[in-house]
Amino acid sequence: MAPRTVLDVDAKSFEGERVLVRVDFNVSVSNGSVGEDYRIRMTIPTIEYLSKNGAKVILASHLGRPDGRDPDYTLAPVAKRLQEITGRAGIKVRFASDCVGPAVETEIAQMGKGDILLLENLRFHPEEEANDEEFCKKLASQADIYVNDAFSTSHRKHASTYGAARLFDTRLAGFNLKKEVEYLSMMRENPPKPFKVVVGGVKIKDKIGALENLLPKADKVIIGGAAAYTFLMAKGVKTGKSLIDHERLPWAEKALAKYADKIMLPTDHVAAQSPADTSIMMVKEIPEGMAGFDIGSETIERFSAEVSGTNGSGMIFWNGPMGMFEVRAFANGTINIAKSMALAYWRGTKTLVGGGDTLEAMKKAGVAENAVSHVSTGGGASLRYLAGDEMPGVSVLQTK
Ligand code: 3PG
Ligand code: MG
Repeated sequence: MAPRTVLDVDAKSFEGERVLVRVDFNVSVSNGSVGEDYRIRMTIPTIEYLSKNGAKVILASHLGRPDGRDPDYTLAPVAKRLQEITGRAGIKVRFASDCVGPAVETEIAQMGKGDILLLENLRFHPEEEANDEEFCKKLASQADIYVNDAFSTSHRKHASTYGAARLFDTRLAGFNLKKEVEYLSMMRENPPKPFKVVVGGVKIKDKIGALENLLPKADKVIIGGAAAYTFLMAKGVKTGKSLIDHERLPWAEKALAKYADKIMLPTDHVAAQSPADTSIMMVKEIPEGMAGFDIGSETIERFSAEVSGTNGSGMIFWNGPMGMFEVRAFANGTINIAKSMALAYWRGTKTLVGGGDTLEAMKKAGVAENAVSHVSTGGGASLRYLAGDEMPGVSVLQTK
């Protein structure tokens, strides 16, 4: 059942009300300034909608995984970026020095209709991740209505995503969460055909659940990145000292036996002794003492043809880079997949990208966000959703 959204209640019901909005502003910050701000931008429609309708908008987020209060993890740079973005719409953003407590209560009491207040990092209180009852009550007592627009953190059963949310009578989805759930549900339940999945990155462990659900539905599953080496070893191909998930070898073997016609693996690789090694080699099998860091040129051609050759129909989901794309010498595979994704989209195929590093890889390839149908704000969360796992932050919302 679909969650009730901010559009499913009378817009007038927000007037003068304190609305606690869980957002995921867990973005990269360095030297006090925000890098990729996609997650911030995606929450703007919800924030502006509530503000325009006279709500007192209280934003709550975590940033990183701090061990208690740690100034390195302050959300102050995010408040600044949010102000830069919303400033154009004439909205002022204030920033609170904590997320609960008397000082925050005073700040909230002083808010006027349409005002926006960003609370300090929720994880400065260990009670947030512990979903502590008292902390949940404190958070919930500071507002009248609850909205979740943080799909990417909805797989966490924390105070702000679950425990505090439960204490509100009105628990709604924001625009971005709604969009994420719609796209991912379409893919999970009834993907347009042909349906193709491209998986890369390092950790197979995080992707097995999603793969188990998607393999029966997909027409092709293309596997690159470090994840591919576990499959190649399972097939008996030499993988040198490439990263292998030994624990998941038996699973890879079974998947290969059952879906031999669907799974596409690399047939050549860019190998080196280490990421810093400049004497790279294009090989069919990885020699002893070397590891694979990117897919090779023949593989790029096969994978790219598969991705872009959908004749404008169906759907493609991409999660995870094809190699160690942070290093230029190992970025070609990922860049080519990004370009093929864009080509498929321009031809009319629905394209979905999941995960922060995949978005970063796309940008590196010069492929803009609007050259895909949808970029999910959540890597981990989207994989968990696709695996059919319970999402506490979504199931706690009212349904319609
Ligand atoms: C993410 O970046 O994946 C989400 O913000 C959740 O963060 P977490 O993995 O630290 O809970
Ligand atoms: Mg994560």
